[in-house]
Amino acid sequence: MNAATTPSAPGKARTYLSGVQSSGLPHLGNYFGAIRQHIELPLTDPAEHFYFIADYHALTTSRDPEELRERVRETAVTYLALGLDVERATLFRQSDVPEVHEITWLLSCTGGMGLLERAVSFKEKIERGLKPNIGLFLYPALMAADILAYDTTFVPVGADQVQHIEIAQDLAASFNAIYGDVFRRPEALLSREHSKVPGLDGQKMSKSYGNSLWIFETGKLLSKAVGRIATDSRPPEEPKDPAGILLLDFLKLFLDPEDHGQWCARTLAGGPGAPGYGHMKQRLIQAIEERFAPARARREELLKDPAEVDRVLARGALKARARAVAVRDRAFRACGLR
Ligand code: AMP
Ligand code: TRP
Repeated sequence: MNAATTPSAPGKARTYLSGVQSSGLPHLGNYFGAIRQHIELPLTDPAEHFYFIADYHALTTSRDPEELRERVRETAVTYLALGLDVERATLFRQSDVPEVHEITWLLSCTGGMGLLERAVSFKEKIERGLKPNIGLFLYPALMAADILAYDTTFVPVGADQVQHIEIAQDLAASFNAIYGDVFRRPEALLSREHSKVPGLDGQKMSKSYGNSLWIFETGKLLSKAVGRIATDSRPPEEPKDPAGILLLDFLKLFLDPEDHGQWCARTLAGGPGAPGYGHMKQRLIQAIEERFAPARARREELLKDPAEVDRVLARGALKARARAVAVRDRAFRACGLR
């Protein structure tokens, strides 16, 4: 079959789509690297927007059913509390769209194995001691299906997901090369400033590295977490290169550029006016408390009304699934399954 006889991917409309795994509590890396864009983009671009909770992906590591259910709810509540406008954007659960598995299979039958064997995040997880299951290996193929199932044009994500989006491009191209113009090519969209947020230990912040800070952490637990941010034993008066100071990287997430510039300048100058690490930590705690206070209050309200969250997800599922069914049908017809 060729492109002329295959109903092809619609050409022009922009579609944004992204997912967050429900394998842990949403952290500052998720927020600044991805979720903030998911919330702000629908307000500035009236294109179509799909954001989902990647519970199928979470199953590659999750083993506790109750915890998985709770994390799915928590992730949905997080989006709503942070202000995702569900009139403009579709919020849904990945597992409400089973068609992604059908598309995963189609992509698996035309894509080369080397693509998945080269996946860096798979290798990193193994290096960190995770016992590889088949799902963990197939993970990028399912992610490609997630993306291609909605004729997605832009995927707003953190830098760690760029290779997965390249894999989606390659898997789409392999299928299209055989069956015609079925899948649309997606592009990654990175946050300009914060595509790789550090964790408390200075490595990339990640749910699985034990170095993350939950966006709604508050009070004593917040102080304790900020207290863990790696520092050194140099005294405040000693002039220091701001580039090597993790706390200043954290402050950059919250302060306006001018304010942040002053903290850096005073650190570089040293002397009696220079801020110590304790001072930076206090400022960071205050900034986190303030920044997320309104959303924290909304979260409390939403947790009292689980039916409302379920309604939003059910509406989202209907809309998302209709779209994925159409793409699945197009792909099935192209390869001869219908
Ligand atoms: P995950 O928690 O792995 O499902 O990630 C959800 C989204 O957050 C993805 O777009 C990731 O790229 C993004 N993300 C996760 N960790 C970070 C980080 N440390 N810095 C920036 N973005 C991140
Ligand atoms: N793998 C992504 C992550 O860990 C989550 C994800 C699953 C995703 N499917 C996706 C992100 C599709 C963007 C598009 O962050």
